[in-house]
Amino acid sequence: MLRIHVPSAEARLYGGGGVCCCVGTGFLRGWRVRPTDSGAGNLLAISDLHIGYAENRALVENMRPETDRDWLLVAGDVSETVDDVRWALETLRDRFEKVVWVPGNHELWTHPKDPVQLRGVARYEHLVSLCRELGVLTPEDPYPVWEGPGGPAVIAPLFLLYDYTFLPQGCATKEEGLAYAHGTGIVCTDEHLLHPDPYPSREAWCRARVAETERRLAEVPEGLPVIPVNHYPLDRHPMDVLWHPEFAMWCGTAATADWHRRFRVETMVYGHLHIPRTTWHEGVRFEEVSVGYPREWRKRPGPPGTLRRILPMEVEAGDGGAASGVGGGRGEPR
Ligand SMILES: [Fe+2]
Ligand SMILES: [Fe+2]
Repeated sequence: MLRIHVPSAEARLYGGGGVCCCVGTGFLRGWRVRPTDSGAGNLLAISDLHIGYAENRALVENMRPETDRDWLLVAGDVSETVDDVRWALETLRDRFEKVVWVPGNHELWTHPKDPVQLRGVARYEHLVSLCRELGVLTPEDPYPVWEGPGGPAVIAPLFLLYDYTFLPQGCATKEEGLAYAHGTGIVCTDEHLLHPDPYPSREAWCRARVAETERRLAEVPEGLPVIPVNHYPLDRHPMDVLWHPEFAMWCGTAATADWHRRFRVETMVYGHLHIPRTTWHEGVRFEEVSVGYPREWRKRPGPPGTLRRILPMEVEAGDGGAASGVGGGRGEPR
């Protein structure tokens, strides 16, 4: 079992081989104000670094923690090549106390420009091996516990994929949805580059991942809130602002629509949409933490590549759920 260093306590890990020890604290739901002791650490998040773009690689080169106790959650789409993924995660690992990574669709592409031509599960397992070599946590590791300010909270890196259940309005099946998408020209590149081998389909791979993840989340002790990190949101509501609603087919699964209630989710961290913002759904905070492509982030106010603080919370409950990001979804193929 991996050893993980957590601030001010011994390592506490859950799942992936069973509970290793128990935390006797109550279930925390209260939002926290950022403490004055900022040296106590921050739980930060980012996604969709897309470092194949030189401007985005420069953003990663300039990313620094606020304290030497900060953790960083990386919610997928680092890049398309294994070498790029290695460079980015190694760079971040050297700066943050702990880095947690989950795959995006881009890491799972078998891209012609990548010398590593592994497909599907073999490619994912290769990336997991790389992370283990670097000391970066993945969905295949026991869930670590954040015990810094705003904690304790179980950090659950997830790999769930999608299953075409977020269908366009008026479509009843995947086939109808895809036919509609081809008609509008909004078809995700995954259709050509994200292979499900040895599964017969991406949705079959998704079903297997959902079943296994459900089992592991059910093992998390009831006294702890959970912060899932997944490339796609657990609930469909963030898709409401897509300019191209049909793109939602490649953005998650309806199978997880109630997970934020079932598994005591405090904050759900995701990316993929390239619409960085905060939303609230049934009392649960959803954080889209993507950087996105240069042509996207150049249009946004504020500096690009800013790390999002997940804990400690900066605002009180009752903030009203104001979105902190830009409005207007793009939903273009990515
Ligand atoms: Fe992306
Ligand atoms: Fe993505």
